[in-house]
Amino acid sequence: MSIDHTRQTTLITGASAGIGAALARRLAERGTDLVLVARRTERLDALATELREEYGAGVDTVSADLGRPDAGRELAAEVDRRGLRVTGLVNNAGIGSDGAFADQGPERIEALLTLNVTALVDVTRAFIGRLSAAPGGYLVNVASAAAYQPIPGMAVYAASKAFVLNFTEALWWETRESGLRTLAFSPGLTRSEFFDGIGTDGYGGGFQTPDEVARALIRALDRRRSAPSAVSRVSTALSAGVARILGRRTAVLVTASAAGSATLVRKRRPIGA
Ligand SMILES: NC(=O)c1ccc[n+]([C@@H]2O[C@H](COP(=O)([O-])OP(=O)(O)OC[C@H]3O[C@@H](n4cnc5c(N)ncnc54)[C@H](OP(=O)(O)O)[C@@H]3O)[C@@H](O)[C@H]2O)c1
Repeated sequence: MSIDHTRQTTLITGASAGIGAALARRLAERGTDLVLVARRTERLDALATELREEYGAGVDTVSADLGRPDAGRELAAEVDRRGLRVTGLVNNAGIGSDGAFADQGPERIEALLTLNVTALVDVTRAFIGRLSAAPGGYLVNVASAAAYQPIPGMAVYAASKAFVLNFTEALWWETRESGLRTLAFSPGLTRSEFFDGIGTDGYGGGFQTPDEVARALIRALDRRRSAPSAVSRVSTALSAGVARILGRRTAVLVTASAAGSATLVRKRRPIGA
């Protein structure tokens, strides 16, 4: 069934910036009502005001730290308390990290796995029943081009996104009879606050804008034939395809060279280490 965006109320996590905020704009433009979730309340409120004025969208904001235990259940309880009927969910909130694994702080690793993996599963579990019951309902989990192969220099991040990709593709099969459209969507490099803490050294060029990524996500969602996963641009599809046919050893070596892993690993190493 194709999605009638004018009949959806979509909850987007990580909607205060980057891809999430761009997606909120593009969905509001198509007539979707929104529930915007992130920690920074002022950002969410400013975006909500913009979307109401610009597109006449119905917009709720929920300030929530999804890095806390029970994030999904608490979010669902808040949505229920407000009487909102959520029909679409985009699990977009995520953080990155790079550098040699041995140089990473344990707190950053834990925060990354909690947000990118645990919270994503928890929020999905809390909402999947109501999404499946909604006509034209959809679930989008934001993975990454990094999900398709191991990446030395961002080992934990890439593995967290491989989890999102595999988890979501499995759910695609489990939910296909219910009418729920389930999609793992993988952006390539995107210019956003994602790189504020880690910088863009070593990543090369070819960044997309959050708006380009948001438009690609909606195109993937609107495709007549539902696929378990989609990417934001052709070059990601090509590199993912190559990684799949290489042997595991070759895949790691090729990826390390293409992704500039030596630079990523070196740049985080404390001087003298
Ligand atoms: N940028 C890229 O190159 C790229 C490439 C592939 C995939 N992705 C993925 O795309 C998604 C969005 O990334 P982006 O580039 O748009 O990043 P971004 O600009 O840094 O935005 C991240 C969003 O996540 C929210 N967030 C972070 N920690 C949170 C927490 N503990 N609880 C609730 N919300 C939290 C942030 O809001 P608050 O700070 O207000 O909470 C913000 O709205 C992520 O899953 C990322 O892994 C990004």
